[in-house]
Amino acid sequence: MKKMIVLLVALILLTIIVFINSCKVPEKISDKSGAQLWGEICNRCHTAPSPEEFNNKNWDIICAHMQVRAKIPEKELNKIKAFLTSKGN
Ligand code: HEC
Repeated sequence: MKKMIVLLVALILLTIIVFINSCKVPEKISDKSGAQLWGEICNRCHTAPSPEEFNNKNWDIICAHMQVRAKIPEKELNKIKAFLTSKGN
């Protein structure tokens, strides 16, 4: 009988731990790099264009355009823009 109670308590504890872990907030957006955000956000509606596809002046305009289109928060957009303009001219 005692064994059963110990087993039951262990099972309840396990359930609670699994439940708490499932509620954990996933990786924060602020922890993600520009490249990561570019891969996730810019691939949502179309294939994400690579940094080499446009020059930096065009990226300025495209990012402003896509910010309005996709309602991308300023912080994320700045990171993506930094990534996109890091290789171009
Ligand atoms: C909400 C959907 C959506 C997301 C997210 C999105 N785009 Fe777009 N994108 C579009 C649509 C729709 C077009 C076609 C032009 C239009 O109708 O505005 C487009 C067009 C483009 C073009 C063609 C040039 C232009 O300005 O029209 C480029 C380049 C582009 N997107 C880059 C990006 C980048 C970089 C990101 C990530 C920051 C991104 N897009 C995220 C919907 C999206």
